[in-house]
Amino acid sequence: MTQKPYVIDQMISAKSIAARIEDLAAEIATEYAGTDKLVVVGLLRGSFVFIADLVRELDLPVEVDFLEASSYGDGMESSREVRILKDLRGQIEGRDVLVVEDIVDTGHTLHQVIDMLQTRKPARLKSIALLDKPTRREVDMKATWTGFEIPDEFVVGYGIDYAQRNRNLPYIGKVRFT
Ligand code: IMP
Ligand code: MG
Repeated sequence: MTQKPYVIDQMISAKSIAARIEDLAAEIATEYAGTDKLVVVGLLRGSFVFIADLVRELDLPVEVDFLEASSYGDGMESSREVRILKDLRGQIEGRDVLVVEDIVDTGHTLHQVIDMLQTRKPARLKSIALLDKPTRREVDMKATWTGFEIPDEFVVGYGIDYAQRNRNLPYIGKVRFT
């Protein structure tokens, strides 16, 4: 694919991300204190770095599973549907489930994933997003926990890609075309 040239300006440092995850993990550990049935579900691929850091800060018995969903349009943003490309390996009925997402943008992905998982009758179904772009929202959706609210900028790094590149950056940066 031909790519327009761009540079990446740092928006959130690796240090700030680490500090925020420590705080979030403490809140999550309080919420789930005493449970031994927590399944942390990472949405592939964007959440892979976040979930790795988050679970290592969680002082709880956890299982980790992954789900890959892909949104596709029919030309009308508001009727976007989400396809499951890779389903969970495990059962979640009666379990506490924490869905981990990289970014909530229009909200369609997380909204539809939550709706779909709800039909499997988990005990408690909650979600966490590293980033949230509230000004882009098309459906009423907010993750239970959010790392950072950001403006409407295209971001990369810390697992998040632009055309599959830049997932390996240790910080969150915004893409600026040059
Ligand atoms: P939503 O369904 O519009 O909320 O889309 C969320 C998904 O869009 C995220 O999981 C990302 O994969 C992708 N996305 C949204 N904003 C960005 C961005 O700034 N950079 C890279 N991917 C993004
Ligand atoms: Mg995603």
